[in-house]
Amino acid sequence: MEKILDEKQQGNTLVMEPKASNNRKLFIESYGCQMNFSDSEIVASILYKEGFNTTQNLEEADLVLVNTCSIRDKAEQTVRKRLEKYNAVKRINPNMKVGVLGCMAERLKSKFLEEEKIVDLVVGPDAYKDLPNLINEVEEGRNAMNVILSKEETYGDISPVRLQSNGVSAFVSITRGCDNMCTFCVVPFTRGRERSRDPQSIVEEVNDLAAKGYKEITLLGQNVDSYLWYGGGLKKDYKNASEMQKATAVNFASLLKLVAEAQPKMRIRFSTSNPQDMTMDVIEAMAKHRNICKYIHLPVQSGSDRILKKMNRLHTRQEYFEMIDNIKKLIPDCGISHDIITGFPTETEEDHQDTLSLMEYVKYGFGFMFAYSERPGTMAERKFKDDVPEDIKKRRLTQIVNLQQEHSRYNTKKYLGKTAEVLIEKESKKSDAHWSGRTSQNTVAVFPKENYKIGDFVNVKFEDCTSATLIGVAVGYSDNY
Ligand code: 5AD
Ligand code: SF4
Repeated sequence: MEKILDEKQQGNTLVMEPKASNNRKLFIESYGCQMNFSDSEIVASILYKEGFNTTQNLEEADLVLVNTCSIRDKAEQTVRKRLEKYNAVKRINPNMKVGVLGCMAERLKSKFLEEEKIVDLVVGPDAYKDLPNLINEVEEGRNAMNVILSKEETYGDISPVRLQSNGVSAFVSITRGCDNMCTFCVVPFTRGRERSRDPQSIVEEVNDLAAKGYKEITLLGQNVDSYLWYGGGLKKDYKNASEMQKATAVNFASLLKLVAEAQPKMRIRFSTSNPQDMTMDVIEAMAKHRNICKYIHLPVQSGSDRILKKMNRLHTRQEYFEMIDNIKKLIPDCGISHDIITGFPTETEEDHQDTLSLMEYVKYGFGFMFAYSERPGTMAERKFKDDVPEDIKKRRLTQIVNLQQEHSRYNTKKYLGKTAEVLIEKESKKSDAHWSGRTSQNTVAVFPKENYKIGDFVNVKFEDCTSATLIGVAVGYSDNY
């Protein structure tokens, strides 16, 4: 499962270079995971060709699109609140049309049109190519909807406009959907079956980003380790179809190598890994290629074998430890982060202690922690009672968050007095005299700007830290790049 950025009140609005001949205005904002942000870039690219420029000003929009998240109830409530805001704006600008994209669109389908009168358009994550037709319908005064999930659609042929970009790092999606069926998770229902994108189109997109000056890419998928592409190659070289498929199959480790070798001067990241699908050859590829970042987001969800089983996570606590040991053996300085859910149905104090002790063993660099939120239609909702009281969920969550903070500090402190490479991404939020970037391990680092610029790879010597941020001074350009 991929990383959720946050559930704040306003989503990230996306803006791109306007085209003079475009005369309609699109306001598009995204909530939830990186995949949604990446999808919004695909949507904007499709609509750019239909005469829409983006705007950050809601009041002047002809079309408002909100790309939504269903992962927890709170995420959905945030979107409902935004719809109220659109409603208020529509009073001033009655011609404005409103569309809902993404996971909530897929989950609620026509209910959206019934429940929220402000909504004119409902489009699921696999139907964005149909947007031009759907918008025509809306403009003719009808509500429109397409929530058909696909077994093929990967948007591999669309080159996304980079809306949220700092010109340094970009997301490249490699798989869509998820077949894992973790019992708490709504994603398999909202994003459909898992499918992988043609490696050729992935490498082409990466090469294109490199040519445009990008320095880092993140390969995105709900479950990147299950990436698998069959096909390609010349038929005449093989005796039969199955031999051809075997010989030309590309798994995630080979895709990583392909991308890393195509652009040795670019940093390569990926998200999200799944412990049950991650293989040693992925770790080996990371260890072998300098430009693959030494960082793995490896959600565990719980440290209790009993709960893992109920969650349909197909690994045990012991197997997870073995995976961690292997990572640390091959990549001693690897940054590792997690997702953890507290208060899954039937979770006891002992199960919770198992989660805390698992965290003690791994000592994660950071993590994303959530109280269990029952999602309609999931296996957990159908089979288990949401029986851990909210106050206990919250107390356990606080304990986990506090322990994580200790571990983050422990990991960050290890870098004091040391030098590591940082890719400069932006100005520091706290000081316009400092740059902000990340180390290979994905730790945020800030340092005085001097004459360096955004996109530079710089060696930084760390002198101070907070629990999550390294503070230092640049000692020169990194000669790696
Ligand atoms: N309740 C709470 N957290 C959830 N996640 C997924 N589904 C739920 C849910 N029903 C968390 C998992 C996942 C992350 C993206 O969101 O930890 O890895
Ligand atoms: Fe991730 Fe499991 Fe949800 Fe798939 S089902 S997206 S692996 S949490």
